[in-house]
Amino acid sequence: MKLPFGFARSSLRRRLGVGLAAGMAVLWLAASTVAGLVLRREVDEVFDSALQEVAQRILPLAYAEVLARDADNTTQRMAPVGPHREYITYVVRDAQGRELLQSSDADRLKIPRDLPPGFHTTDRLRTYTEAAVQGTIIVTTAEDLTHRRAAVMRAMTALIWPLAALIPIALLGVWAAVRLSLKPMVVFRAAIESRGRGNLMPIATEGLPDEIAPMAASVNALIGRLRGTLEAERSFTANSAHELRTPIAAALAQTQRLISELPDDMRRDRARSVETALRRLSRLSEKLLQLAKAEGGGLLAETPAPLGPVLCHVIEEVSRQADCGDRLEVSIPADGGPPSDLDPDAFAVLARNLIENAVKHGDPDRSVTVRLADGLFEVSNHGGVVPADRLARLTRPFERGQTAAEGSGLGLAIAAAICRGAGLVLELVSPIPGKADGFRATVHLGNDTVESGSVGQR
Ligand SMILES: Nc1ncnc2c1ncn2[C@@H]1O[C@H](COP(=O)(O)OP(=O)(O)OP(=O)(O)O)[C@@H](O)[C@H]1O
Ligand SMILES: [Mg+2]
Repeated sequence: MKLPFGFARSSLRRRLGVGLAAGMAVLWLAASTVAGLVLRREVDEVFDSALQEVAQRILPLAYAEVLARDADNTTQRMAPVGPHREYITYVVRDAQGRELLQSSDADRLKIPRDLPPGFHTTDRLRTYTEAAVQGTIIVTTAEDLTHRRAAVMRAMTALIWPLAALIPIALLGVWAAVRLSLKPMVVFRAAIESRGRGNLMPIATEGLPDEIAPMAASVNALIGRLRGTLEAERSFTANSAHELRTPIAAALAQTQRLISELPDDMRRDRARSVETALRRLSRLSEKLLQLAKAEGGGLLAETPAPLGPVLCHVIEEVSRQADCGDRLEVSIPADGGPPSDLDPDAFAVLARNLIENAVKHGDPDRSVTVRLADGLFEVSNHGGVVPADRLARLTRPFERGQTAAEGSGLGLAIAAAICRGAGLVLELVSPIPGKADGFRATVHLGNDTVESGSVGQR
């Protein structure tokens, strides 16, 4: 479902952050509006009471003043006591509406006549009228409405500004709180993401909130079950290898014995072809088991260790079997190289296949370079260039190139399966960059970038 504001694609953190921020802003606006309305009513009450108070105070004074005056018709204007703004203005009129007494600002306000007793609001004034002596003296106090509105506005502004300044701080607080609270979830997600066919370590459950801890426990139980299944599969593979190896070896031994015992060349040749077929079968079963193991997972070691010692061992084995010790130019860091979490057995199979290939398919008169360095393992050999379209297919099982050497076409498929399972990149290049011929297989053990124009396997 498509939600507004792109929520469908957004994270829980963003949803919470935006939701809380929007909720806070709406509440703040609602609270400000209510506060404004209450403030306005209170201000009205205070100002109205002041108007009434002034009118009631002036009434007896005006009465005394009018009695004491000569009976003329002139209006007496009260001189201001000192310079000040007159907020409440008054006028005292007689029954005919003639002004008898008025404050200094009364002319400016033009207080209308015949106002009803009590409070009254015109378009510019708020007035209070009180009559005495049977309606012969009428006092009207008035206040400019703009003054009242300005007072409310000033009070509202004083109320809202500090809150407006607090809003960004509150939003920042919401953002930080959401981020901090959801951090364990992000760590948990990253931990699950990093679990794959190669990494089946349990997820750390320390520090997880109560809401996610049961989920982590379930995931760990699931990983545990998967580990158990894979281990069973691996032990089945290992047992099968052993079970296959033994009868093939026995058949080979019997065939070799038969060859030595047979009296004529013709039957000896037939027995030799049986021996060759058995050797091929032995190699094929070995490679098939390696492939099954590589695709079965468990390619990461529990504790990272340098790969140098394993590589030394593989090189020793390959040079003994292929008798090519002088062709190999090996470069391994003295300290064994940086620690890698690739399983040592898996690395041995990977290295063995790549080195065997270079020895087997490369130019037999030229050297093979094996290099273990920071973040990469590289095997290069001279020899014919492998066309790009074929290069791209070589990692498929049983795919072979133009070569006179024997093989089943599984070596690179095994190497690619190991790299895929361990999250590494296998890069095949031909010719060797900067050279006219050759073949180079590189395993990127770290996060270094893959050269463009090459074939990379993930
Ligand atoms: N280092 C190399 N130099 C040149 N060609 C190579 C090299 N490595 C592999 N190839 C080509 O890729 C093909 C596939 O290699 P792969 O290792 O999968 O099978 P194989 O070596 O033929 O047989 P297997 O490894 O099963 O004994 C080879 O047949 C060969 O043509
Ligand atoms: Mg091979």
